[in-house]
Amino acid sequence: MSVTPILHHVNLKTPRLQEMVDWYAAVAGCEVIHLYPGGAWLTNDEANHRIALLTSPLIEDDPDRFHHTGMHHLAFEYPSVDALLDNYVRLKDALDAVPHMCLDHGMTISFYYVDPDGNSVEMQADWFGDWSKSKLFRRESAEFEADPIGTFLDPDKVVAARREGASLDELHQRGYGGEFVPEVQPDLRVAL
Ligand SMILES: [Fe+2]
Repeated sequence: MSVTPILHHVNLKTPRLQEMVDWYAAVAGCEVIHLYPGGAWLTNDEANHRIALLTSPLIEDDPDRFHHTGMHHLAFEYPSVDALLDNYVRLKDALDAVPHMCLDHGMTISFYYVDPDGNSVEMQADWFGDWSKSKLFRRESAEFEADPIGTFLDPDKVVAARREGASLDELHQRGYGGEFVPEVQPDLRVAL
């Protein structure tokens, strides 16, 4: 019998350890489990860490990162769309932190932020609230087959519609249908 391992953490190399620790605390509620001059281990759940940070004077920013191989983004999931939107408002008001790109992917609504090192960090919530249903949508639906990326969103338009009383179903239909597209082209963080 095989045993399937669970994805546990990512380890990011950084030249700015404390800024990264502070950002993940503010944006994703990550607490420091251990910090030392060479790095840190952070978590926002019961695991002993979910984000590891490694620092050294030898680590430097990659000015051409968008053209190079590596991670495009890491992702956190909120338990509800309301929680995701509330966090968007909180981060914008408190930290002036706004996403570089927002998408309705069909099965999720996803807001992507940039951490102090330039990594993209997705905050998502599942429209179905049920991974088996969202997996089926991605695997089999004609909508996903026709458009595997989804529709860009202006998060302020989504939040405004929610404030005006739109239900979550309505937000999804209107956003996925293109009613909340941003005025400016989002920053995709990748050279296409
Ligand atoms: Fe993602």
